[in-house]
Amino acid sequence: DDESEATLRTPIVAVLGHVDHGKTSLLDEIRGSAVTEGESGAITQHIGATAVPLDVISEIAGELVDPTDFDLPGLLFIDTPGHHSFSTLRSRGGALADIAILVVDVNDGFQPQTLEAVDILARTQTPFIVAANKIDTTPGWNPNPDTPTQRTIDAQTDRVERDLNENLYELIGDLSDNDFSADMYWRVQDFQNNIGVVPVSAETGEGIPDLLTVMMGLSQRYMKEEMAVDVGGPAAGTVLEVTDTQGFGATVDAIIYDGTIRADDEIVVGGVEGPIVTEVRALLRPRPLEEIRTEGQFEQVDSVAAADGIKIAAPDLDDAMAGAPIRVVGDRDVDDVIEDVRAELADIAVQTVEEGVVVKADTLGSLEALATTLEAEEIPIVRAEVGDIAPRDVRVAETAGEEKHRTILGFGVDTLDDASDLAEQEDVRIFEHDVIYRLVEEYEEFVEERER
Ligand code: GTP
Ligand code: MG
Repeated sequence: DDESEATLRTPIVAVLGHVDHGKTSLLDEIRGSAVTEGESGAITQHIGATAVPLDVISEIAGELVDPTDFDLPGLLFIDTPGHHSFSTLRSRGGALADIAILVVDVNDGFQPQTLEAVDILARTQTPFIVAANKIDTTPGWNPNPDTPTQRTIDAQTDRVERDLNENLYELIGDLSDNDFSADMYWRVQDFQNNIGVVPVSAETGEGIPDLLTVMMGLSQRYMKEEMAVDVGGPAAGTVLEVTDTQGFGATVDAIIYDGTIRADDEIVVGGVEGPIVTEVRALLRPRPLEEIRTEGQFEQVDSVAAADGIKIAAPDLDDAMAGAPIRVVGDRDVDDVIEDVRAELADIAVQTVEEGVVVKADTLGSLEALATTLEAEEIPIVRAEVGDIAPRDVRVAETAGEEKHRTILGFGVDTLDDASDLAEQEDVRIFEHDVIYRLVEEYEEFVEERER
């Protein structure tokens, strides 16, 4: 009925995959703006969110999507740069994203960050589809801009089609090696037990109609119940990033996945030193269909309902942490909300012991993911924190009894200059990598060498 339809929230779609496989280009193609071009280099520096309303989806998908078949308001896409762990996108009790698009360059196949993404999707039980991107780079390809996949494949020569299929089946094989049964999306009946592969090109727009149709269908079919939320209640969200915004000082980019946040709400935000209690000064929204990260195009709004990405300006946000919870207090007792946030932060807190390695990561989610991996490898942790590698971390590492623990493992962070100097002086080894399992592998190789 009409009333329940009015409170269906937008599904949150995470776009993830290996560096350069085309995540940003894909979103860019969908929203028809030039985010890729505005980026420094070709690398996306920040996480952003893009809301695509149903009517736009239906416009792009053309004959494939009849908007009257759907009652979800659209899709909220979150772009995760390849060097940024998808695990940042966490929420109370698991993944922030409802569904995901795993982007894989069809020529390049599975790569380290593809594997890492697949691991996290499996661990958080996030349903996903695979966008087999860059089909237009198949030698001899005859591009048919913005055309549905099967139609453009039919327009290729037998040889081109054969080459593409070879790559696609290799991809399906890679998925199967990782315990996911997958097939071309038009052959998948049950998307809950089979991964659909959608051949696309972010360059020519081929297959984009199919991709949107499949995503929309998936959310409508399997997620409608989860999308029925009390959008009128106090908001719950996750900090994606702490940023400085001209005229506002420290702000947070957040995804609101439940309830509503208003411009003068009291909020509690997870911070480095514990929960921060503050009051919203402004809710800043990028213009519709624009990248949330694009500077200078903000519009102040009075309220935002789930699901949506929003920049929140409020005093005392300097110490807020990426991956931490945000809660609107509403008519609840502020102490109860503080306790909730404290409990959620404690939930993420890494188990530390007297003797072990120092661990630093860029967000709570990546710290959690790294700690989980270290735990599985039985590598003890003496200290685990969000933030760059600083001299005080070296001070902790140098007190270790064993050489293999005189080490700091950094994921997605920088090493401050005086920290590298001090580390050298104190014979502390620093390991850095932007792929978690590679970081752990490098560390283990070092330990093995020492023990030989
Ligand atoms: P990170 O954010 O760095 O992880 O990369 P990304 O996955 O967002 O990749 P991005 O969209 O920046 O694309 C990387 C490069 O591949 C760019 O030069 C794009 O123009 C190119 N590219 C992306 N998709 C396609 C495609 O479908 N066809 C072709 N020919 N090039 C593509
Ligand atoms: Mg990108």
